[in-house]
Amino acid sequence: MSKIVIAKAHTNIALVKYWGKKDPKLMLPQNGSISLTLDHFYTETSVQFSTHASEDQITFNDTQLSPVKAQRIVKFLDLIRAKSGQSARAIVKTRNHVPTSAGLASSASGFAALAAAGSRAAGLKLSLTDLSRLARRGSGSATRSIFGGFVEWHAGEDDLSSYAEPLQDPVDWDIQMIAVVLKATKKPISSTAGMQRVVATSPYYPAWVQTANRDLIAMRQAIADRDLTAVGTLAETNAMRMHALNLSAQPAFNYFTAETLTTINAVQDLRAQGINCYYTLDAGPNVKIICASKDTKAITTALQRHFRADQLIIAQPGPGISITEA
Ligand code: DP6
Repeated sequence: MSKIVIAKAHTNIALVKYWGKKDPKLMLPQNGSISLTLDHFYTETSVQFSTHASEDQITFNDTQLSPVKAQRIVKFLDLIRAKSGQSARAIVKTRNHVPTSAGLASSASGFAALAAAGSRAAGLKLSLTDLSRLARRGSGSATRSIFGGFVEWHAGEDDLSSYAEPLQDPVDWDIQMIAVVLKATKKPISSTAGMQRVVATSPYYPAWVQTANRDLIAMRQAIADRDLTAVGTLAETNAMRMHALNLSAQPAFNYFTAETLTTINAVQDLRAQGINCYYTLDAGPNVKIICASKDTKAITTALQRHFRADQLIIAQPGPGISITEA
């Protein structure tokens, strides 16, 4: 039996998005991305390797995963076994403090926590950079969840050069995200398959890569300047360009619901009234609103015309990975 290692990783929301791979096997992205790690949503995972287990046992929020659902995690554990020389099967217990499959990027915190707990339990002692590279192999967005605050994932050219690093942590100025948790719907297409279709079929894809690279430069500056208006404007434009790729794919798809559009319109109305707020959204219907703390009351009050108070979760910049040995 190996020791039990527990890791906690927070989710992150991309301000300049990752949406397309140039190498699906190594999970190398087409462009770099920048995110903010959030305090409110996280995954806690414990891993122990046991020679008594005949196969990997994965429990997710107290329910054991079926072999089909466990596949992606088993593949990732195989990668850890190959790197460490650990040959035993693993007992993995994971608890998600994130609404799953709702575009709140549970695979980001999930694979970051699994990379950290799994590698340490297997006897590896990886640097944060190497942990970020390992997490990338599970899910692209997990690359960034190793770190807290504002984080940049460098696209890189190969396994060694594709990793994330902190841009600003702790975040010493006032930026918040209100997560608007909308009615859970079944995703029309997973992020992995969606981005693959976009790369293969959208005639606008080359323009996306070009503008995303420009957005990276501008976003770094906006974060260094602690300029909420610039961060919000860039994030909103970048998010809509990502979703425009989906509308331009063959066949087209989108992650919006009627409530998504209601929220987007509400944010635009609030801005027209002079409240400095912006929206972003990922591969799901939920909208995240970027704002300063002085405005959260006005924004949540306005949104309560459409949604319940418990659908509006105010999150702040969160920390990087933490690892403990039981
Ligand atoms: C829209 O990281 O879920 O959230 O690498 O295939 O697991 P895989 O995809 P995933 O994609 C996240 C896409 C996004 C944008 C982002 O987080 O940068």
